[in-house]
Amino acid sequence: MKNEKLIFVKSYGCQMNVYDSKRIKDLFSNEGYKVTDDFSKADLTVLNTCHIREKAAEKVYSDIGRIQKYKKNNNMKLVIAGCVAQAEGEEIQKRAPIVDYVVGPQSYHKLTQMISSKDETINSDFLQNEKFKNLVFNSSSNASDFVTIQEGCDKFCSFCVVPYTRGPEFSRPVDEIIKETEAYVNKGLKEIILLGQNVNAYHGSGTDGKTKDLAYLISKLSDIDGLKRIRYMTSHPLDMNDSLISAHKNNPKLMPFLHLPIQSGSDNILKKMNRKHTVSQYLNVVDSIRSIRPDIALSSDFIVGYPDETDSDFENTMKFIDKVKFVIAYSFIYSPRPGTPAQKKDNIDNNLKKARLAALQSLLKQQQNEYNKSFINKDLEVLFEKKGRYKNQFVGRSIYNQSVFINSSINLLNKISMVKITNSTNFSLECKSI
Ligand code: SAH
Ligand code: SF4
Ligand code: F3S
Repeated sequence: MKNEKLIFVKSYGCQMNVYDSKRIKDLFSNEGYKVTDDFSKADLTVLNTCHIREKAAEKVYSDIGRIQKYKKNNNMKLVIAGCVAQAEGEEIQKRAPIVDYVVGPQSYHKLTQMISSKDETINSDFLQNEKFKNLVFNSSSNASDFVTIQEGCDKFCSFCVVPYTRGPEFSRPVDEIIKETEAYVNKGLKEIILLGQNVNAYHGSGTDGKTKDLAYLISKLSDIDGLKRIRYMTSHPLDMNDSLISAHKNNPKLMPFLHLPIQSGSDNILKKMNRKHTVSQYLNVVDSIRSIRPDIALSSDFIVGYPDETDSDFENTMKFIDKVKFVIAYSFIYSPRPGTPAQKKDNIDNNLKKARLAALQSLLKQQQNEYNKSFINKDLEVLFEKKGRYKNQFVGRSIYNQSVFINSSINLLNKISMVKITNSTNFSLECKSI
């Protein structure tokens, strides 16, 4: 007879879900569960879902179908957590009656109690404050890990579900974030990645009760001795204040990488998207940050085929990319999402959307390639995070966030080293040996 319960958690979507999935595992480990990566053996399966595009949301239902067979065999309980849970609520159980519990991203701390007491099966309340106070922060990978510092969004871009699925903007207090980070550093952590859907809108309270910005939080965190590297994502162009920009000059622990989505290089489309900023405002941010940190690596997100996007709007996006030069970027075909203002319209021909995406991705790939190539024969500081697929292979991240592969007979795990780059690909750098 099995005497210990097993939990399986699958994460979809963004890094904030990865962080939440870890917390769900920690909550149940505290209750005596063991984590398994084989769902067919699990007593409890949690699918931590993403609602950002249609494909992401639909994936959950195909996974539920696959789980169905095993569920009957071992009395498994099935939980749908995350952003689909928040957006669809009880509709999920109507469409998939085998789902036992539905819990949103701001109330999953209640899950252990919901399962043991059985008197509540759906919770989609926005309980950000209560949630963080009740979470468990046990597991952390040694080299680098995420810490969520801010949740939700008040920007309401017309295509985006995040303000509805994650709720209004909420920032954790400074001391709570420091405490969590110190606990990870004590276990050997070298780098933290501060997370938020709108991370640079951070406005948490300090110990003096006053509201603090992200630059303040970063400066406090950099006082932690063992912590060597700090990153943050995702930022909004309107929230890049001067103190945050200056931190990129003054704080050696703050890595020279900035993920700053723009979505489109056309002011017409930005207006329709309700982005609340223009292309030139974005370019001003780029100029300011490059003037004090010329080597900063910039990354962005783009949506193509937004309703009414003309050839000339798209051309403007291409020209914009050509001008700024990104080291990496993520691009998506517009996906109309239920409940968002843009949902009603989707008037760009599918083939045209695909052609625009292909053209945009090819330009971005070319920039990425050239950027990575420029490091060949140069020395670069790398934090080694994990073992690679091959014997003696280690994988790390450069200060500019590139993946770096290296062969070494010395154990490099969790070490920061200067290495000479010998080769590059579209997505990574290589170093023959150390
Ligand atoms: N908070 C961030 C990103 C949130 S979602 C920001 O302000 O930019 C991550 C990315 O998904 C977005 O940057 C956008 O490029 C993409 N995205 C969001 N909604 C989308 C939709 N309806 N269709 C296609 N892509 C979408
Ligand atoms: Fe979504 Fe980002 Fe816009 Fe907020 S700022 S609505 S998270 S795209
Ligand atoms: Fe997806 Fe929710 Fe993140 S919709 S991208 S999991 S905030």
